[in-house]
Amino acid sequence: MLITIEGIDGTGKSTLLTALKSQLADLDPIFTREPGATWVGEAVRRAIAEQIDPITEASLFVADHAAHLSTLVRPALNKGRLVISDRYSDSRFAYQSVTLKGVVPDPEGWLRAMHDGWSIIPDRTFLLVLSIDDALARLADKSGREHFEKREVLEAVQNNYLAYAWAEPSRFVIVDAALEKEEIVKFVADGIRQILQSSKSHRQP
Ligand code: TYD
Repeated sequence: MLITIEGIDGTGKSTLLTALKSQLADLDPIFTREPGATWVGEAVRRAIAEQIDPITEASLFVADHAAHLSTLVRPALNKGRLVISDRYSDSRFAYQSVTLKGVVPDPEGWLRAMHDGWSIIPDRTFLLVLSIDDALARLADKSGREHFEKREVLEAVQNNYLAYAWAEPSRFVIVDAALEKEEIVKFVADGIRQILQSSKSHRQP
């Protein structure tokens, strides 16, 4: 079972993930992330920091995904493990559709084609949604902002995410990131348990 957690910067993904580690410990999940589950992630970080050209950056994100799938996600899923990833392919579709605008004719089509035939679609994706003002206010405390963390970019990225959730309502679960931390953690943890439960009862009718 592959669960992914998505959302723009500043929605509190890291805090949620830390809390889920203890809340879901009994399920023995494998927690992972994109970018950076493999050494390719170091190249991605460097590309972000140096603001290299958008095609190089996007390609490195895809390379990081391929390495992540082959070394970690696919072997874990083959063993029947629960995998929870902090960001995954929807980050690419949502962010790089923005950074590649005007660079390639159809950024989203280009990105989806890059994943076709080998990537694994998550079973469920929890999308943290927050007003852009609140997200920027939370990011204001952070030093060293990445080039993604600008109002226009975050707004466009969140709109992309919402369009994907609208298009695939059975995969996406929208999470109100303005709620109290405890409520968010409970909502997502309970949601993950329910998904596991229903997949078990489907397999053993
Ligand atoms: P992340 O490590 O989640 O952010 P943080 O530095 O706050 O821990 O991701 C780094 C940035 O990379 C974040 O702004 C989102 C962006 N990103 C993409 O643009 N495309 C992608 O495919 C992924 C996985 C992340």
